Amino acid sequence: MMVSFHLNGKKIYYDAKPDEYLLDTLRGEEMISVRRGCDTSSCGVCTVLVDDKPMLSCSLLTLSMEGKHVTTVEGIQDEIEVIADLFGHEGADQCGFCNSGIALTIYALKKELKNPTDDEIKHYIIGNLCRCSGYQAQFKAIKDYLGVKK
Ligand code: FES
Ligand code: FES
Repeated sequence: MMVSFHLNGKKIYYDAKPDEYLLDTLRGEEMISVRRGCDTSSCGVCTVLVDDKPMLSCSLLTLSMEGKHVTTVEGIQDEIEVIADLFGHEGADQCGFCNSGIALTIYALKKELKNPTDDEIKHYIIGNLCRCSGYQAQFKAIKDYLGVKK
C-alpha cells in the first residue's frame, strides 16, 4: 500500500507492506543511522523523530506515517556535529551504538523544554539505554548541549 510522508524534509512515496515497521523502511532507504537493538521497544536505539517527537521506529508501522514528518540523524547533520563534539569532550562516547537515538532525543528535548531540571532531563531520556557509559559523562554532555548548569 502506498504511503507518503516527509523524510528529512523531502516528501517521499513508499510502497509499504501492511506489517512493515518504520525501522526496516528507513534502513532500506539508506538511513543507516537508525539502528536495531532490542526490537522489543525497550532500548531506544531505533529512535527517530516523528513530527518532532522521539518515537521508536521498531514499533511504528510505516503505513501510520501518512502525512507525517520523520527525522533521522541524516537530516540534522550540523546539530549532530555539535552533539558529537560535546560527547567527545566529556568522554561520553564509547561504542557509540546508542548515539543516534540519544542525539535525536536530546535534540527534541532542547526544542521542547527550556531550562529543564535534572529530573526533567532524566525523565526525557529514560527510554534511551546505554550499556557502556554509566550515564554520568553522557549526562554532563547533555547538560552542556542544553546550556543548563552542571
Ligand atoms: S530496537 Fe527499538 S526500542 Fe530497541
Ligand atoms: S556508548 Fe555503547 S551503548 Fe552507549
